[in-house]
Amino acid sequence: MGFEEIFDASYKRILSDPRNGISFFDAFYTQLLGSNEEVAEHFANTDMAVQQSMLKKSFYSLFAFYASGQADDAIRSIAKRHNHKNLDIKPEFYDLWLECLISTIRQYDDKFSDDVELAWRLVMTPGITYMKFKYDKTS
Ligand code: HEM
Repeated sequence: MGFEEIFDASYKRILSDPRNGISFFDAFYTQLLGSNEEVAEHFANTDMAVQQSMLKKSFYSLFAFYASGQADDAIRSIAKRHNHKNLDIKPEFYDLWLECLISTIRQYDDKFSDDVELAWRLVMTPGITYMKFKYDKTS
């Protein structure tokens, strides 16, 4: 199995298995917000149910960017929303975001392995690099 298939299979397992009734996205944001005060402040006025469904959709954009190497309108607009002029999400927070994501996957994927972890890191990293790169750009 290639990394794309490993990612896909892991993502399906995660979505189908809410632990103790807590969905993967719920657990992820609980971990992210608990990891850093400044990050939590960014989400102070956020409807987290809406946020969870936005993130769920944006995983497909990150995956598309990894697979195609082309930034589509969706990832462009997500990066713009997070840049220094808008949400002002500092580049270092993306590393924390990824570590919280991997740690949540470890809890939710009962077939978690080094290959699963690497697949997620590989798929997420181009999109994260793009968003960090766009932080101080104007377009
Ligand atoms: C690759 C990583 C990330 C992805 C794919 C992502 C995705 C998204 C998406 C799709 C939205 C909704 C945009 C909209 O309203 O149109 C959003 C909003 C937001 N994101 Fe991210 N995000 C990422 C990383 C981060 C990080 C690291 C932070 C750090 C604090 C963050 C903080 C926020 C905040 C504060 C909002 C706005 C919430 C609101 O509307 O109240 N994001 N994100």
